[in-house]
Order: sequence, then structure tokens, then C-alpha cells
Amino acid sequence: LTDTFTLANGIKIPVIGFGTWQTPDGDVAYQSVLDALKAGYRHIDTAAAYGNEASVGRAIKDSGIPREELFVTSKLWNDSHSYEAAKIALDKSLDLLGLDYLDLYLIHWPNPLINRRDWDKANAEAWRYMEDAYTEGKIRAIGVSNFQIEHLEALLKTATIRPMVNQLFINPSDLEQDVVDYNKAHDILTEAYSPLGTGSLLAVPQINDIAAKYDKSAAQVLVRWSLQHGFLPLPKSTHAERINQNAAVFDFELTDAEIATLDQLEGVAGTHQDASQVDF
Ligand code: A2P
Repeated sequence: LTDTFTLANGIKIPVIGFGTWQTPDGDVAYQSVLDALKAGYRHIDTAAAYGNEASVGRAIKDSGIPREELFVTSKLWNDSHSYEAAKIALDKSLDLLGLDYLDLYLIHWPNPLINRRDWDKANAEAWRYMEDAYTEGKIRAIGVSNFQIEHLEALLKTATIRPMVNQLFINPSDLEQDVVDYNKAHDILTEAYSPLGTGSLLAVPQINDIAAKYDKSAAQVLVRWSLQHGFLPLPKSTHAERINQNAAVFDFELTDAEIATLDQLEGVAGTHQDASQVDF
């Protein structure tokens, strides 16, 4: 859990992050983040849209872990894709989290709620603010989430600082190979949210067969699959024992043949909408 990937700007990022999407605000978010920090996670992934930043921040504070040992990510919601709105949104996230800087800030989706057709201009404006906040030191790294190639190409036309991360819905059922390859070619780290397919992959027989061989769980096999592909997995759980389990993945390694078997599971959990089609 203390292993790191290195971002394009040299910042180190712990290889497994604790996901908090769909974790309710209040005691559940507070307790699960505390449990994750106790289990050794040092990388927490939240977002304004998850509505749980205040509880995440409270857990971080109460853990007593020095700020510089933690890596905290939040995301800019779709109602804030302009220079001014992005500034207000970042300040609000920092305030709710009780932090004076973020380690990573991402544009959550390429689809602004307003002026949807001008998404390229809206993303460029939000990005311009994120570059300024990065230069000022309010955020140590900047990136995007749910961006397909067309969104990345549009952003790179005006960006003076390139995104360091693209966080995507990735698991063996949704490999998104084209954008993964694009990320790699542009030195953008691919983060995998919902590495367990939001839980939908845990009963898949091929995954459980591999898990049985190592005396591990299907969840642990899926976290390893992400890591061995070079993705940064962000497994989410609200149960201490699962939180521990999802991080106990450094004592076994999948073979190339097993990875290939898992790669064949494309579509097994049903298809996931791509970002350009998601309707908010
Ligand atoms: P819960 O939060 O109740 O523990 P993903 O990370 O792909 O979004 O998947 C999260 C889902 O998988 C949640 O429903 C979570 O349930 C469940 N989950 C997470 N870790 C495990 C695990 N080790 N075993 C079984 N279910 C898990």
C-alpha cells in the first residue's frame, strides 16, 4: 500500500486508492474512511458529486495521520465548467474536506450541464483555472475523469499543462482499450474506478476459479488485474473486513494466461455507457 506510481510531474501516488463513490455521507463515509486509513490505505478518492467530502475530511482529521503522508483526490462537478465556477468549486471542496490543498483534482466528466454542445470550450475554461490552481500550489496534480479520446484531444489543443491522470470505469468487463492506449502514449496515468464492476463481477465463475487457485477472493483477483495492467484501482467498500481484503493483494501475482482469460470477459457485466453518451 505504500508502493507508488509516479505521475508525469514527478508526484508519487499510492498504487491503490480507497474509492468512496456511492458511500453515503455521515457515519458510513466517516467510518469507512477511518477503517481504510487504519488498514493502511493512504490514498482516498472522493468528489464533490459524491456529497461525502465533509465526512471524508473529518475521518482524515481524526485519523491523526500527517497530511503529507496522505494522497487526497476530489473532482470538479459538471455544474462548474468555467474559470470562475471552477475556482468556487475547488474552494468549496477544500473547505468541506478541511484541507488547504488537494493532491489531485480532476474534471469529473467531459459533459458540462450547461452549454452541453460547447463541451470543448467549457472543459478548456475549467482546465485553465485548474492550471492556475496547480501553479499556485492549491493542487499538486491535475487530471480528468471519464474522458474519451475525442475529449482528451480537444483539451490538449489549449492546455499548457497536460492532464496527469484519466480516471475511467475499468474492469475486465469494460477494458476501454483505445483510451487506455491513448493515456499511455501521452504519459497519463489510468485510474480504474469500480475495479470490481460495482460488485457485479464478484460472482463470475472464471474470476472465482482463478481466486480459488491462490486462496484469494474474486475482489482481490480484480484488484490485481488492474495493478498488473498498470492501472491504479480504486476499490470501494463500506465494510472493514472487505476494505482490508481489497488491499491484501501484494502476496500473489496473476500469470499472463490468467490476465488473458480475464481480458476475455469484455461485456460480461453488461455494457457501460461511454462518457459522450451519458445524460445527466
Ligand atoms: P460494500 O460497500 O457494501 O462492501 P467497486 O469498487 O467496483 O465500485 O465495487 C464496490 C461494490 O463491491 C460495493 O457494492 C461493495 O460493497 C462491494 N465490495 C467491495 N469489496 C468487496 C469484497 N472484498 N467482497 C465482496 N464485495 C465487495
